[in-house]
Amino acid sequence: MTSIMAIANQKGGVGKTTTAINLSAALAAKGQRVLLVDCDAQGNASSGLGVRITGADAGLYGFLRHPMDPPLHRPIQNLPLWLLPANSSLAAAEWELAAQGGGETVLAQKMEPLGREFDFILLDCPPSLGLLTVNSLCAAHSVLIPLQCEYFAMEGLTLLLETLRKIKMRWNPELRIRGIVLTMFDRRNNLCHQVAVEVRNHLGGHVLKTVIPRNVRLSECPSHGLPVTLYDRHSAGAKAYMSLADELLETEASGD
Ligand SMILES: Nc1ncnc2c1ncn2[C@@H]1O[C@H](COP(=O)(O)OP(=O)(O)OP(=O)(O)O)[C@@H](O)[C@H]1O
Ligand SMILES: [Mg+2]
Repeated sequence: MTSIMAIANQKGGVGKTTTAINLSAALAAKGQRVLLVDCDAQGNASSGLGVRITGADAGLYGFLRHPMDPPLHRPIQNLPLWLLPANSSLAAAEWELAAQGGGETVLAQKMEPLGREFDFILLDCPPSLGLLTVNSLCAAHSVLIPLQCEYFAMEGLTLLLETLRKIKMRWNPELRIRGIVLTMFDRRNNLCHQVAVEVRNHLGGHVLKTVIPRNVRLSECPSHGLPVTLYDRHSAGAKAYMSLADELLETEASGD
């Protein structure tokens, strides 16, 4: 069965897109058929895989607004990874969806026929709790939450958990937390350790074993349009995202 996973945290710059790109590529490297949907008008998941689209009706925006097949790209030959890209035109979708009744579930309806073709569909959410994030959470079976170990991380998490509870109640009772993944972890930084302990104390059951370290290769690879597993497969970042893929596949298989 297809697993649709939203990668969400309304806090900006916590590693959502880095996780979306590199986890997608790691899962694909393990033979999974993966679709990555760029749900952010910043289009970082698209450009990070070397895909830049132009035109007002291009990418996810056109797919949400018009009856059409999804404009899928295959950014890397030999990897079973597809991308539904986005550009800045997607910003308009936020208020256009708000203007129409039931605008929260448009993506869920559009995604339904796509499910059968992929093992995983990952949705890279924007840094807000606006309608594009709500649409992603309504379309998803689960949510993966990247959390940067820094001051204020817990406050943001409380708000996100409250939003997830409301979405479960109103639109998507099946939605579950797939896991919290600690990102940009710097083991020489005391605050990182303190926040990690605090998150584990409060939400231990949800925190994944794999921790993504701060790694310069992860910040370099988007400018080459490559996931880190192809840019430098021996880097700590590549190894961490391969481990994250393993952890998710193991727990997927055991039904956790
Ligand atoms: N583990 C890491 N090590 C080093 N740099 C990282 C790591 N993860 C992310 N970065 C860098 O941090 C910045 C923010 O990451 P990213 O774009 O993935 O966050 P985001 O949550 O998607 O941001 P936004 O909220 O704007 O969508 C980027 O420049 C990225 O290259
Ligand atoms: Mg992003």
